[in-house]
Amino acid sequence: MNILGINAYHGNASAAIVCDGQLIAAVEEERFNRVKYAAGFPAAAIRYCLKEAGLTLAEIHHVAVPRNPYARLATKLWYALRMPSFARERAKVLVKFTGIPEALAAAFDLDPAGLSAKFHRVEHHQAHLASSYFVSPFENAALLSADGLGDFASTMWGTGTANRMKIAGAVAFPHSLGLFYSAVTQYLGFLKFGDEYKVMGLAAYGEPAQLDAMREIVSFDERSNTNGFRLALEYFTHHHAGPEMSWAEADKTPTLGKLFSDEMGKKLGAPARLPEAPLEQRHRDLASALQVRLEEVYLGMLRKLAAQTHSQSVCLAGGVAFNCVANGKIFEATPFEQVYVHPAAGDAGLAVGAAFYIWHQILGKPRSFVMDHAYWGPGYSRDEVQSAITAKKLGAEGYSVADFPEEELIK
Ligand SMILES: [Fe+2]
Repeated sequence: MNILGINAYHGNASAAIVCDGQLIAAVEEERFNRVKYAAGFPAAAIRYCLKEAGLTLAEIHHVAVPRNPYARLATKLWYALRMPSFARERAKVLVKFTGIPEALAAAFDLDPAGLSAKFHRVEHHQAHLASSYFVSPFENAALLSADGLGDFASTMWGTGTANRMKIAGAVAFPHSLGLFYSAVTQYLGFLKFGDEYKVMGLAAYGEPAQLDAMREIVSFDERSNTNGFRLALEYFTHHHAGPEMSWAEADKTPTLGKLFSDEMGKKLGAPARLPEAPLEQRHRDLASALQVRLEEVYLGMLRKLAAQTHSQSVCLAGGVAFNCVANGKIFEATPFEQVYVHPAAGDAGLAVGAAFYIWHQILGKPRSFVMDHAYWGPGYSRDEVQSAITAKKLGAEGYSVADFPEEELIK
């Protein structure tokens, strides 16, 4: 049984192939088109996965797409009725996603009628949870996915037991820990898609002087019965028309529109930093306060999840799970004793998650695979590297292939 996972028309476009429950290949489109975080349709990634598996498209039984435009439909309709621009954006997304079988057939010069695979939609956060739990070494675990936004939710939690996941709750649009982090990242002058890691690093150089302000911007009550948190929306803009994202262009890095409102500057006591302006201690302190608030909410949600599930293991995914500084505190700040984070915790990992979701959650197959490394994309042999050097006549410039013992490499 061959399952192809495709993350398309979304940042970190990627593909993965799972054959009889074993991951054979997984790769991002950016590795082929050299465009960081490339969105669009991952035709080259799909071709690579099929080649690694030794299969043609006709031999694929299921195609899993980690997006379900029909998820949270009532909330979407509510926003669509209030905001026509929002409705137009959602309609465009829907058209793209319903066209995936045609896009797949076109990429392989096939008639769509000739595709025998069954197409499945897997909700964004369920694919994130599947990407972590189903390839983890755990027989049961608490599950948490947290990111900016996907299928109108930013956070989802539940439990995994053997080959099944059970969803216990979610935080819906517009409340989002990921967008909170992205908004303050932009405020600090880091405007590129995916810049959050720089601010996580910057946080180490500051003191969380403005922590009270951050606590007002994101509220979270660890004693309440609900696991979620809330954004004070006056500091944000995305709830007016949805976050402005450019996902459609395959040959461009995605961009994210401005997420913070002018109120953010008033609250934090100064206008936003311009990208070319010097970094001052004030900015380092704000990064620190942002990071501390993220940890308070993230670790607080994990403590609640531990109390609710009585599990000793937790599986994490979603872009927020890339925050290794917060993850590094899980053992000291929560009762969890084992942690598994999907190596591609961001949206690239959705292709893996969607494929395993079909294998276990839909088809009910038993677990038989653990993802214990991240080397599922293209590699190059010694001979291929040598051929490239010869073909480009780089030998004259001093390039050659040599083998080093491990101690030399480590040095
Ligand atoms: Fe995501």
